[in-house]
Amino acid sequence: MRTVEVEPSLYAADFSRLGEQIETLMRAGARIFHFDIGDGHFVPPITIGPIVLESISPLVHRLGGRLDCHLMVEEPQRHFEAIAEAGGDSVTFHIEAVRNPAAVARLARQHELQVGLAFKPETEPEEAAEVAEPFDLVLCMSIEPGYSGQPFMPEALPRIERLRGLLPVEKPIQVDGGVGRDNIRLLRDAGARLVVAGTSTFGRDNIAQAYEELVQEAA
Ligand code: DX5
Ligand code: ZN
Repeated sequence: MRTVEVEPSLYAADFSRLGEQIETLMRAGARIFHFDIGDGHFVPPITIGPIVLESISPLVHRLGGRLDCHLMVEEPQRHFEAIAEAGGDSVTFHIEAVRNPAAVARLARQHELQVGLAFKPETEPEEAAEVAEPFDLVLCMSIEPGYSGQPFMPEALPRIERLRGLLPVEKPIQVDGGVGRDNIRLLRDAGARLVVAGTSTFGRDNIAQAYEELVQEAA
């Protein structure tokens, strides 16, 4: 098992060449793709959704990969069925978007989806840790959710450390936002196990090399 799994974030991909870029990254070793669904309410932009997921999931699954869906939406439960049908493998929704995280996690599992709990920079890690028991992972945002390409918020590092101390060792911490070669090792050392990389993967001419360099840096 790898120490840190680097998940390319498709939000930063070139959508005119989406399948080709996915294949390139899978040949370079990527196995989990991060797929950002934004509804224009919980976050300002409308991003991508089940229709795009449906067109890429056969390719990703055929090559042995998984699609990790980050729901930056209000009422995330309304979308679980469509995401499962489109080939999503997991859904991570925000603690700030729901009243009863455990109940919403149960709804996700009814669709055989794995489930993660995300929290924004203004939410205390303690709040997420308190309700993390039914979740497969906890996602600590290192930017304000909404857009790719924002700078990493350095205060995320002590927040990840605090969260790591609060969760059982086997519960993975995911980090999303501004991850790159300059901070991936610090994130690993702070306790991150899954790191999302949008611009630091797709913002380079050679995306396979960008991915490989992130993996090497975190090894
Ligand atoms: C933004 C999304 C992120 C985004 C990260 O709200 O949740 O997953 O794609 O992009 P980078 O890695 O460029 O910050
Ligand atoms: Zn995301």
